[in-house]
Amino acid sequence: MTSQANIPDLSNLWMPFTANRQFKEQPRLLAKAKGMYYTSTAGQQVMDATAGLWCVNAGHGRQEIVDAIAQQTAELDYAPSFQLGHLDSFRAASAIAKLMPQGMDRVFFTNSGSESVDTALKIALAYHRARGEGQRTRLIGRERGYHGVGFGGISVGGISPNRKTFSGALLPGVDHLPHTHDLAKNAYTRGQPAWGEHFADELERIVALHDASTIAAVIVEPMAGSTGVLIPPKGYLEKLRAITEKHGILLIFDEVITGFGRLGAATASEFFGVTPDLITMAKGISNAAVPAGAVAVRRNIHDTIVGAAASGIEFFHGYTYSAHPLATAAILATLGIYEKDQLFQRAKNLSPVFENAAHKLQGARHVIDVRNLGLVAGIELQPREGAPGARAAEVFAKCFDQGLMVRYTGDIIAISPPLIIEEGQIQEIFQKIDEVLKTVD
Ligand SMILES: Cc1ncc(COP(=O)(O)O)c(C=O)c1O
Repeated sequence: MTSQANIPDLSNLWMPFTANRQFKEQPRLLAKAKGMYYTSTAGQQVMDATAGLWCVNAGHGRQEIVDAIAQQTAELDYAPSFQLGHLDSFRAASAIAKLMPQGMDRVFFTNSGSESVDTALKIALAYHRARGEGQRTRLIGRERGYHGVGFGGISVGGISPNRKTFSGALLPGVDHLPHTHDLAKNAYTRGQPAWGEHFADELERIVALHDASTIAAVIVEPMAGSTGVLIPPKGYLEKLRAITEKHGILLIFDEVITGFGRLGAATASEFFGVTPDLITMAKGISNAAVPAGAVAVRRNIHDTIVGAAASGIEFFHGYTYSAHPLATAAILATLGIYEKDQLFQRAKNLSPVFENAAHKLQGARHVIDVRNLGLVAGIELQPREGAPGARAAEVFAKCFDQGLMVRYTGDIIAISPPLIIEEGQIQEIFQKIDEVLKTVD
């Protein structure tokens, strides 16, 4: 327990995606984590209803991961990944490839979701160039998409506060599909909405406008998380796949959130039965114990790029910490836990319980929608008049004070617990939110 006197100077740290001034007046500081719970510096137990930032899928403080990292640090703390390798980097790539849809068995390592996205976009451009179609440079994202914070990611992303400050420096030649969110049609849908497949037809309009010969790739989150939980309508992803295939455009699924069990399958691609050309990953890949990310690539795309190079380096891209030994140790230990504890299956089994518990919030104060898929729920609140986001911010703060960590984006509360959650804890999450909503204006 940290008393007020033990709190260090907070002024030097410029916190990411944080209201720094408000935070530093009333800091929420975490000291420890184990299983489903954080412990704050004030000694309070806080249930983690968001798996950290959608990433601690196996729960906190897993001993297997702790041991793997400690042992690796002592044995081989770092190895350059350019023109040199270490055994676990290859083992980790094979372990990831086994979880990917068939044929997507070439793996490039990064350190984060943002890096995975920028890597995937570069691979798409390199692929077309290697095939002699270097004029395919256009990238298509989607409104409300979140693809991290690199210049590539914010260019294809569709969240305006993340883009506006940098608008003069975004990638040229990017276009966006419309988002699929429509509460008038789809409020309180359980699972995938039946209405909205036609939003994918907009891709045909974009192709007609720019011509397919200029378009390299389409990138979407199969289920959009950070923007506030947008569930793809039935048939939508299938249609995007059919249209991209027809026009020789690569399809990238950004699975930074959906990868590693969130929907009750190894990937959203498996869950939806739609196979893209590239899959970006991070977060749950290492249970967030060490920063790590990866891109899974269809073998023919890899082979085309590698085969087209005359000799020497085939793809001029990589990070000092690609396949960092601590990351690959954490990845191998994490994937081992997922398999041993059958956590993806567990998430699938818990999904109906989770869905029922979430939808009990229909009719709760301020709630205008509840939506869910796998172990993800979005609870949309009526925004406060003239103060969008303020109501959800208050719910977040009050929940935390009462020992429950939730996330909010705008006026949407997002719930995405570790996959180890127990049924009773699921009920507790939504009951507590209900109670807190009663106390918020
Ligand atoms: C779909 C998606 N892509 C990319 C990212 C960026 O990941 P990172 O914050 O690790 O760079 C996120 C983060 O939430 C995400 O949800």
